[in-house]
Amino acid sequence: MGNLSIPPLAELRKRRSAKWRTFPDDVLPLPVAEMDFPLAEPVAKALHEAVDRSDTGYAAPTRDLAEAVSNYARRTWDWRIDAADVHTVADVGIGVVEVLRRIVSAGDRVVISPPVYEPFSWWVREVGAHVVEAPLADGPLEWRLDLDALERAFADHATAYVLCNPHNPIGLVHRREDLVAVAKLAEKYGVYVLSDEIHAPLVLPGAEFVPFLSVSDEARRWGFAFLSASKGWNLAGLKAATVVTADPAPKRYVDRLSPHSLYRTGHLGVIATVAAFNDGDQWLANVLDVLDHNRGLLDDLLVKLLPGVHYRQPQSGFLAWIDFRELGWGDDPTEHILTTARVALNAGHRYGSAGIGFARLNFGCSPQTLTEAITRIAAAS
Ligand SMILES: Cc1ncc(COP(=O)(O)O)c(C=O)c1O
Repeated sequence: MGNLSIPPLAELRKRRSAKWRTFPDDVLPLPVAEMDFPLAEPVAKALHEAVDRSDTGYAAPTRDLAEAVSNYARRTWDWRIDAADVHTVADVGIGVVEVLRRIVSAGDRVVISPPVYEPFSWWVREVGAHVVEAPLADGPLEWRLDLDALERAFADHATAYVLCNPHNPIGLVHRREDLVAVAKLAEKYGVYVLSDEIHAPLVLPGAEFVPFLSVSDEARRWGFAFLSASKGWNLAGLKAATVVTADPAPKRYVDRLSPHSLYRTGHLGVIATVAAFNDGDQWLANVLDVLDHNRGLLDDLLVKLLPGVHYRQPQSGFLAWIDFRELGWGDDPTEHILTTARVALNAGHRYGSAGIGFARLNFGCSPQTLTEAITRIAAAS
């Protein structure tokens, strides 16, 4: 397993972030998507140096971030991005909302594929559009994009599709052929595709991330990609992300984003993100080792301690999608788990009706914490 010294719980509880301040100290918090690992050393060094310089002003209009993203994409996924096509925004949510504002009008239809990261529907509603659901297909062995459902939704006057690539909360890494098919549908029906690729650096052994904009000319004509180091290197509080295009047609909308968007981005976020993308490969490899171990450990623990619970190991990230329905803990099993086991998880129904009876668990923690969480839940069952 990877070479990371994960702080003990007593240290983690000193953190001031949402994960550690939302619940009382007797609760083991495994919900919000923050990881427990120490910061990557190059990131910590860049931040310490900035603080030592009192360098806490506005983000500068340089190409450092665009070049770091472009170099990372080429090195990691063999994906060529022109740094001139990388636009800085404060976070992925703001990037998606601001792009949507420029491509949809009030009352337009925007498609999502539940179960999916809950804020997707908030973002669509924030711009006055209607959410249209084209749920994932849940096959006997694996989840997939449901191309027929997507075609029906696109054909029914959709303006945009917010794709989660890889897909939170399932940890699904979409297949190239599915992304090619989505791009064809986008061109056929004139639907913009906003591909949220925030989890891409966290793809685990056995799967291969395919950037949406890399799959075809149709994808480039209709697509926007959103890249950030905030999940991979745990930088969510620092506020820096990017919107990437690869064709003049979508780029003209990005060019219309407020010139002020750079100044709304965290300067320390840009500093940390540049360090992560340029110098964070080794740390990330160690994290992926721990996550790879933890996804299997979770499987073993559930089989041994909580038979009746169903879980398929994710292909990416640190989020597990767990089916508690057979245990009879109701539509929202997290209530029972929080009350009786003092373990906090995210309620599955918040990701769409397919999540009723499910919960999302964050295994971006030490194997000891994960073991304790499942042991507590089993003891309370
Ligand atoms: C798919 C997805 N998109 C976006 C975000 C949030 O990103 P940001 O904080 O950059 O808006 C998350 C956070 O967990 C996520 O899982």
